[in-house]
Amino acid sequence: MTQADDAVRAEGLVKVFGDVRALDGMDLIVKRGQVVGLLGPNGSGKTTTVRILSTLLEPTAGSARVAGFDVVKQPDEVRRQIGLTGQYAAVDEYLTGRENLRMFGGLYHLEPAYVRQRSQELLDSFDLADAADRPVRTYSGGMRRRLDLASSLIAKPAILFLDEPTTGLDPRSRLGMWQVIKELVAEGTTVLLTTQYLEEADQLAEDIVVIDHGRVIAHGTAEELKDQIGGDRIEITIREAGRVADAVTAIRQVSTGEPSVDDRHLAAPVSGGSTVLVEAIRALDAQGIEVDDLVLRRPTLDDVFLTLTGHAAEEPEQAPARPRRGRRR
Ligand SMILES: Nc1ncnc2c1ncn2[C@@H]1O[C@H](COP(=O)(O)OP(=O)(O)OP(=O)(O)O)[C@@H](O)[C@H]1O
Ligand SMILES: [Mg+2]
Repeated sequence: MTQADDAVRAEGLVKVFGDVRALDGMDLIVKRGQVVGLLGPNGSGKTTTVRILSTLLEPTAGSARVAGFDVVKQPDEVRRQIGLTGQYAAVDEYLTGRENLRMFGGLYHLEPAYVRQRSQELLDSFDLADAADRPVRTYSGGMRRRLDLASSLIAKPAILFLDEPTTGLDPRSRLGMWQVIKELVAEGTTVLLTTQYLEEADQLAEDIVVIDHGRVIAHGTAEELKDQIGGDRIEITIREAGRVADAVTAIRQVSTGEPSVDDRHLAAPVSGGSTVLVEAIRALDAQGIEVDDLVLRRPTLDDVFLTLTGHAAEEPEQAPARPRRGRRR
């Protein structure tokens, strides 16, 4: 049975809030054991999708199955299969970090000995061991966020929904979170994570679904998406504007497409990662062209969005009431 193999199968999800069409025909398949990254800018419908899949919200139209169970008709069965980390912390201020984890372990009816051991693992992973026995109200924002993540991971659910798991974390905690997610995946957990960071989806997800205005606009591995938008670019500033024609000739030898020129600056699509930098230096050096600056630029989420949608990913925060998601096609 192929359908039962799917951890998540959503078809034509629509969610309307007043005159805002938060989801506009969203399709999504996550196979068991897979990590799928749901990538999209603010207001694109990531949280709405996750809330529907985790039974917190009913779709206006369309259907979704999680672990083979219908999210509307069989919410209890769905809940037994999933873990959810929300975008906002849900921990108890007056308990210590360790007590919070014990409480969540209790909610999941886990063995106390297991909860003790798992709590310690998570407190270590999230750099909270020293603060574990202090009340949460004394924690910093980042510490609360890490504890919230740890709480949702206590049960090792079959299917885990992570809504922007690393937003608000410092780089070190972000790496810790990635590590914990990778460990869970190695043990067989299926993960759907939302993010605004292409790099994060790239690190964690085999499959990336890009959404905008509540529908899928692209889908594939990180490499496929990057190829689709033209891959890496090399950007060079040469010392003398008069040598630019020679520089173009030199760069053509290492680029995969025609260089563009703006005064002393050249940019060109390349493939092959950082070895291209060495090749470019050699080609320019062979012509005796002096270089002021040379960088390899990886595609960013902004590049993906600019290419796919014609607008940047990082739009300013909008007031929820403004119906900018109400755009109809
Ligand atoms: N309860 C609600 N009532 C009204 N509008 C809502 C509600 N929840 C979400 N929306 C709107 O639906 C759209 C999608 O919101 P959603 O929270 O799913 O986006 P998101 O991709 O998670 O964004 P972010 O990156 O900011 O978390 C937005 O326009 C939002 O304002
Ligand atoms: Mg969100």
